[in-house]
Amino acid sequence: MFRRSVIMLLVVLMVFSFALPAFAQSTNTRGQSAAAFDQKIIRNLDVNRAMDHLYYLTKEIGTRPGGMPNEKLAADYIADYFESIGYEPWVQEFSIGNQHIGTITVHDGEQWFGQGEWGFNEWHGTVWETGAGSRGPYTSVSGYVVDCGSGGVNEWPAEVEGNIALVQRGTAFTTLVSRAQNAGATGLLIYSVVGSRGQYGQTFSPNVTTSIPVLGLALSQGMWLKEMMEEFPVYLDIETQLYSNLISQNVIAIKPAAIENAPIVVIGGHYDSVVGAPGANDNGSGVVILMELARVLKEYDTDEYELRFAVWGSEERGLVGANRYVQWLSTEDRNRHVANYNLDMVATSEYERAPTLFLETVDGLPNIVTDTSLAAVSRLGYTNVVQSRFGSSDHVPFHNAGIPATMFIWLGGAGTPQNYTIERYYHTPQDTIEENICVDRLDMVMKIAGAAVFDLVRKQVPAFEKAAIVYREYSPAELELQQDPNPVQ
Ligand code: BES
Ligand code: ZN
Repeated sequence: MFRRSVIMLLVVLMVFSFALPAFAQSTNTRGQSAAAFDQKIIRNLDVNRAMDHLYYLTKEIGTRPGGMPNEKLAADYIADYFESIGYEPWVQEFSIGNQHIGTITVHDGEQWFGQGEWGFNEWHGTVWETGAGSRGPYTSVSGYVVDCGSGGVNEWPAEVEGNIALVQRGTAFTTLVSRAQNAGATGLLIYSVVGSRGQYGQTFSPNVTTSIPVLGLALSQGMWLKEMMEEFPVYLDIETQLYSNLISQNVIAIKPAAIENAPIVVIGGHYDSVVGAPGANDNGSGVVILMELARVLKEYDTDEYELRFAVWGSEERGLVGANRYVQWLSTEDRNRHVANYNLDMVATSEYERAPTLFLETVDGLPNIVTDTSLAAVSRLGYTNVVQSRFGSSDHVPFHNAGIPATMFIWLGGAGTPQNYTIERYYHTPQDTIEENICVDRLDMVMKIAGAAVFDLVRKQVPAFEKAAIVYREYSPAELELQQDPNPVQ
């Protein structure tokens, strides 16, 4: 009896031990490829969350010039968010040069309802930010705005006496200032013309000695004033202010590795804007993607790498934040940096002038960032993505320190400094969600960057396990285990 049951048990065990591999090697194979890993990340990335951040940064806060209070508000918002998703953000402060800012308050601006050529409806308010003369005075005056053309000798009407002159930029600032003062103007507004890149002119700080306040307006601000003046007299309060002893900051969320001296991957983008521009595309777009990547990648095993999600301050003031970061690294830490993904202007809706997503390296050569990103592009089935050569952003200091670095940006032409086109709203008050953001493009770049980074940093499956995976069929119980153990809420 006992003997028979032992034999039976042995038989049963033998049958099962042969049957199991046969079951496992059925024809329906199921390999876990890089494409499957892409989906782990992509299905959790939520473009609506990214857009919520973009609303906050560009509408609740607005313009974010380096060193100004709004830049700090944005840094706090991003740091708080990093904290809320379980990081301990590291804030790196640095000092930054003075800002000269003008403020224009348009009285009765609400009377103006038209939809002009300049697309103001979406962004107009009664208070605008402009540049101000960098050599004083810092004061405020009020008056009617008077159109003085391009400020030629005979273009100053009598009404300008005691009021505010508006001129188009072109003539030397000193000449314009002395003519305005001679005509009795109490303030001078100079508005930009179309820039060399075909973009609408941005705000600026005229470097000129003057006794009356001088403001440097974006082209669209000047044009809006002119359109309003055709309807009714426009009365303004203008103010010029000097901001000094400024502090700017980088905010960095670190996902540590499980091993010591792990290679470091930096996913970065600047969160400041130029004066007067809400910076929705430049560069709210890059910032909100990396905030979302920080949330999703946190849930995955990337233990062989250290990930750093970094937003840079004062990029528009000369790549200052990214430069400081790289300068502050010890030689050992710098040598651990293996890749910098720099997201800058990744969602413009001006398709004609920016039809292509460029992966820009400083020397035009491919690197680990372009390689992983282009591989992700082809796995995901995107087409209009190419590699080219461009600097002008936060990947430059990384490149100069010998760290492979690439900027993601939508442009036209060859995507080089010699041959490119860019959206007209670049650096203007119309760089808003309404005028300059395409949600699908934001989503696309988020997916490419997410898939590329994860492909680089996910815990690598040893080769023999990979081989085993390719030839095995999974049991229902194993399939259950393969489901994402930590689906992100
Ligand atoms: N996002 C732009 C960079 C850019 C613009 C690259 C157009 C390619 C084409 C960036 O924020 C920027 O405006 N950079 C400055 C240079 C920086 C050193 C102040 C620029 O390009 O003028
Ligand atoms: Zn930028």
